[in-house]
Amino acid sequence: MKFGTKTGHPAEISSDCIIAGVYENGELTPSAKQLDRASTGAISRILEAGDLKGKTGQTLLLHNLGGIKAKRLLLVGCGNRNEITDRSFRQLASAAAKALKKTGSKEALNTLVELKLKDQSLTWKTRELAVAICSSEYQFNQMKGARARKNVEKSVLRKVNFHSSGRSDGTAIRQGFNQGQAISSGMDLTRDLANLPGNVCTPSYLAKQARSLGRSHDTIKTSILDEKAMEKLGMGALLSVSRGSRQPAKLIIMEYNGQGRASAAGGGSQGAANTKGRNKSKPVVLVGKGLTFDAGGISLKPAAAMDEMKYDMCGGASVFGTIKAIAEMELPINVVGIIPSSENLPDGDANKPGDIVTSMSGQTIEILNTDAEGRLILCDALTYAKKFDPAEVIDIATLTGACIIALGKHACGLLSNDDKLAEKLLEAGRQSGDRAWRLPIWDEYDEQLKSPFADMANIGGREAGTITAACFLARYTKDYKWAHLDIAGTAWKSGADKGATGKPVPLLTQYLINRAARS
Ligand code: BES
Ligand code: MN
Ligand code: ZN
Repeated sequence: MKFGTKTGHPAEISSDCIIAGVYENGELTPSAKQLDRASTGAISRILEAGDLKGKTGQTLLLHNLGGIKAKRLLLVGCGNRNEITDRSFRQLASAAAKALKKTGSKEALNTLVELKLKDQSLTWKTRELAVAICSSEYQFNQMKGARARKNVEKSVLRKVNFHSSGRSDGTAIRQGFNQGQAISSGMDLTRDLANLPGNVCTPSYLAKQARSLGRSHDTIKTSILDEKAMEKLGMGALLSVSRGSRQPAKLIIMEYNGQGRASAAGGGSQGAANTKGRNKSKPVVLVGKGLTFDAGGISLKPAAAMDEMKYDMCGGASVFGTIKAIAEMELPINVVGIIPSSENLPDGDANKPGDIVTSMSGQTIEILNTDAEGRLILCDALTYAKKFDPAEVIDIATLTGACIIALGKHACGLLSNDDKLAEKLLEAGRQSGDRAWRLPIWDEYDEQLKSPFADMANIGGREAGTITAACFLARYTKDYKWAHLDIAGTAWKSGADKGATGKPVPLLTQYLINRAARS
């Protein structure tokens, strides 16, 4: 999708479709007012007839109104003019995007950037509108047969211009849609990788995709550790999981070096002096769980909905997406992505309940449930992360079913050993609408991990499953600032519209945008 800006009287701008807002009770937004006057009250008359009440997300499409150059006018309900919230803005943005897509317009002019929100900037509004447009375009058809793929309805929308009232607005709008475009392209990659089935998207496939991302951006350097290399490093916990699978495990490393670059979309890039050579400033390390299929192992999962365990690599996929997004924005920051990737299957050589393995950190683990495998692959990746001398480490994982019980699908779980880092992630979640909610990792919970035979067990009993999983990880992250995002509830949708959501790419990207602006 292309984006741009246009200035001028809305009625005078040629377009396939102009989008304008209507508040509750038929009150018009500034652009709608101008269009109404130009069409000698056509909009007012239609509203009086009762076709549109202005409720948030309602839409009405009109054609060939006299006095208006655009071929179509899409009216969008915006609710009460003084009560537009982040959430209602996103709702109306997405309703407008869906209605626009149906019109068959190749191009559109969006005036909804003019809506007033208490705490949100023009950049933010433009970004959210752009993300809504790109998300409504997302389709996953790669695995359909050739004939079905041919018959898929392709969207014809190519460009959306945002209505700008002047030069300074233009700058804010451009920053907004550059961010929106980058976030969306990251989310699309995350969704594509996640939606692929387990027989296609294996650890080796992910490694291949990482190499290809490295080839397409000269700021990204990819390296892959195979099982032999991991064995040398003593990654006994990770390798114990992949032992039960025919697919070899991979440890995928993507290093993004953007420090010292002038940013197209980031908030202010200072110190652009050093554009050549690798800058040594400490990176943010993102560690994403890349379980390409989780059958549970010998502690086999029940059959119902087991197909959804192809999504157990969504944490890893979100690292791909976030790195792609920041690379497209050329964000002036250093980020390392680490994705431990494996399958978890039952097999004659698989982990058995009671097995004890030694992690790279030297700590031993009694595996009481082979289905608690995520923490086993993550703990070795978290130990490995130290090698990059991280400013902080954030891991992202579909780690516990308990997190879905605790928070449902509206927020991911956040657990951290650093209050400041946690607060910044919560803030990025609020800003991006991709929210997190913090849970504690107190010693009382950690005690649930006691094992009579090893340094710890890999499960902590039925109570507080999300917290005890994080307590397990916390034992491997004592040397740096660390946060853990449990995305089991937010990474994908079940049911009729089954599919990956692309979360938490918006949260992570926002966090990195904020961080780049601070440093
Ligand atoms: N990948 C699952 C967690 C999961 C389950 C995410 C369902 C989303 C939906 C993870 O590997 C797992 O199986 N966790 C166990 C841990 C338990 C054995 C302590 C769980 O949540 O049941
Ligand atoms: Mn599992
Ligand atoms: Zn799992």
